[in-house]
Amino acid sequence: MSHVDDITSAGEKSMPMMSRIQQALDAQLQRAAGASAPPRLIAAMRHAVFPGGARIRPQLCLAVAQACGEDAPALTDAAAGAIEMLHCASLVHDDMPCFDDAATRRGQATVHTVFGEPLALLTGDALIILAYQTLARAGAAQPARLAGLLQTISDGVGAPDGIVAGQAWECESRVSLSQYQRAKTGALFVASTCAGAQAAGADPMPWRGLGECLGEAYQVADDIRDVLLHSDQLGKPAGQDAQHGRPSAAHDLGLADAIHLFRRLMQNAIDSVPDCPSRTAMRQIVLRESERLMPQSTCERAVLEGRIASAPAPLQIAA
Ligand code: IPE
Ligand code: IPE
Ligand code: MG
Ligand code: MG
Repeated sequence: MSHVDDITSAGEKSMPMMSRIQQALDAQLQRAAGASAPPRLIAAMRHAVFPGGARIRPQLCLAVAQACGEDAPALTDAAAGAIEMLHCASLVHDDMPCFDDAATRRGQATVHTVFGEPLALLTGDALIILAYQTLARAGAAQPARLAGLLQTISDGVGAPDGIVAGQAWECESRVSLSQYQRAKTGALFVASTCAGAQAAGADPMPWRGLGECLGEAYQVADDIRDVLLHSDQLGKPAGQDAQHGRPSAAHDLGLADAIHLFRRLMQNAIDSVPDCPSRTAMRQIVLRESERLMPQSTCERAVLEGRIASAPAPLQIAA
């Protein structure tokens, strides 16, 4: 598992963000775990969600809600938890033999490896449904916000432009790299920033650009890390994109240009944080994420190994 700092914004006084997310997810999963539930399904669902990875999407959702003056924390928790459950479901399905056939995820054996393929399929299904059950339950107290949240989050995971569409591009003979990446990864980042605003009763549009840039950058980083890092550093198999012939920024553009693209997208993400009281803190969060995803030391090692000619200049926060 990647070890990630909490991106709790500077102004937050309550529970640190990562603990808040873990507690919300735990409570949400408990609701599926009644006495009548099949125990192995429940164990597989917990295996898919805990201990978790970077939790970047729910952290983003919470950070934006706070930047927008969060006034309905139970709804924010539901949106953030639903988004993370949808993400976890997509990983369970992505790891199955009919997709990437991966044996490890977040440093542990994948769900289908431990519980078998039928339960992995059902685990993904159950998490997707639990995400919507969670939204429905919390949305009952905030009905005016529910329709917008459902639309935003569904757009992030469905067709034509969400995760399902992105994964389905792998079954086509031709695909544009950026369309594939925006759908399979970028769309849920857009949902994360926009849902954060909507959970707080704010306009999501100013937050779209941040989600778009971060999401695309995130997948470009994943492609580069797939080439540059080892499985034990990633907590999942390395070299997957070449093995499965997937479109990849590292392969399609070359390592050096992919690293430059990543830096440019992260700089755009920093620049696209809208005007709000915690703008500086939000921009710092993006800067820290950039360093976590693509440490300067990794770029410098790639130079020493002769894989790229020079390390890109560090990102900047303009005044
Ligand atoms: C992995 O996402 C799949 C991609 C879309 C790149 P993350 O890198 O956010 O995975 P976790 O949740 O931290 O494990
Ligand atoms: C992103 O694609 C995964 C999903 C959208 C589910 P990858 O297949 O590149 O992600 P990893 O590398 O397995 O995490
Ligand atoms: Mg995949
Ligand atoms: Mg994969």
